[in-house]
Amino acid sequence: MINIKISKNLTKLPPYLFTKINQLKKEVYEKNLDIIDLGMGNPDLPTPSHIVDRLCDTIKHHTNTHKYPQAKGIPKFRKSITEWLARRFGVDLDPENEVLSLIGSKEGIAHLCMSYLNPDDYALVCDPAYPVHFNGVSLVGAKIHFMPLLEKNKFLPDFTKIPEKIAKKAKIMFLNYPNNPTAAVVEDNNFWKESIKFCKKYNILLVSDNAYSELTFGNYYAPSIFEFPKAKDVALEFHSFSKTFNMAGWRLGWVCGARKLLYPLEKFKSFLDYGAPMFIQLAGVAALNGPQDCSQNLSKVYEKRMKKMVFGLQKFGWHVNPTKGTMYVWAKLPDKMLKEGSLKIAEKLVQETGVVLSPGVGFGKHGETYMRLSLVTHEKRFHDALLRIGKFTKNYI
Ligand SMILES: Cc1ncc(COP(=O)(O)O)c(C=O)c1O
Repeated sequence: MINIKISKNLTKLPPYLFTKINQLKKEVYEKNLDIIDLGMGNPDLPTPSHIVDRLCDTIKHHTNTHKYPQAKGIPKFRKSITEWLARRFGVDLDPENEVLSLIGSKEGIAHLCMSYLNPDDYALVCDPAYPVHFNGVSLVGAKIHFMPLLEKNKFLPDFTKIPEKIAKKAKIMFLNYPNNPTAAVVEDNNFWKESIKFCKKYNILLVSDNAYSELTFGNYYAPSIFEFPKAKDVALEFHSFSKTFNMAGWRLGWVCGARKLLYPLEKFKSFLDYGAPMFIQLAGVAALNGPQDCSQNLSKVYEKRMKKMVFGLQKFGWHVNPTKGTMYVWAKLPDKMLKEGSLKIAEKLVQETGVVLSPGVGFGKHGETYMRLSLVTHEKRFHDALLRIGKFTKNYI
């Protein structure tokens, strides 16, 4: 067998967080232990039927959609996106120049890093963060300055703590609210205004990853960055169909913003892919133009699950608070578990109880004392999951 060294940037990356967890899950499964999987943020509920019907009809009756698509997205898809953004957030974007179709926002975020960053550049990334925000940067070999998300700061980064010399070398800043993994939301819109001001001052591309804009609870409203003055001068915003419409496996998303900021990614992608299949984009049109109560109902489901999980964990002495959005619970480990850390506890939990959680450290150093629970199993299973977590926790008291 030939022996070729793989790229340095890829070598430096650890195995993808869920690769490790899936391996443990497999081992436990082979021992016939019942598994309750609250690890990956993979929605358990099906895609709404009107979207599935649209896909079936299109793929069967409109064979021209079997051809290569237009890389930046077919016009109908782009128009539906800008109309949806206008209805939902009251923002005005040009479908011809200011929207780009993506094969899921993960793809777009990783490729955005490749379109903008050189090895000497810095990216400002939250810690903890959705892993593509830092792995995308590492894959290019660029440098990362982590902005800690601390509970005492409501899991928001403190821009005043970014050293001036780093800010001057930074090209991209990633923000993501409602947030994965902490489930934090921005309650004071001055935060968005400050982030725009900061990025304008230092000439930084502000990336707002808005994958959870539709999964919010009660009266909380998640804005688009483009609702704030001057945002179009500095920002791009990513959206995803995965969580809003339970379409994770369909691989569809978009990024929007000023033409000048968007174009490098469009150019980069034109060398790599042809965009999402046309029949998938047309199903996306059905999702955006169809009834929106599916995502409102989905939020209600996650809210109910969140309360059940949070109040259940609190009873066992876990430090965790109710949230205003996303599909996650970010739970601080009880004191007696801190010494072992999140990875060890996650491994033991799977092996001893069959409950799969994501160790906080997989999202960054500041996640080390936390666990992320994805609310992606029917509430009926929560009782069982909590019993097992409770029993496991008692061993530490
Ligand atoms: C913050 C955030 N951004 C982006 C994504 C990726 O979404 P997509 O399925 O559109 O690639 C996720 C998925 O979990 C996420 O949590």
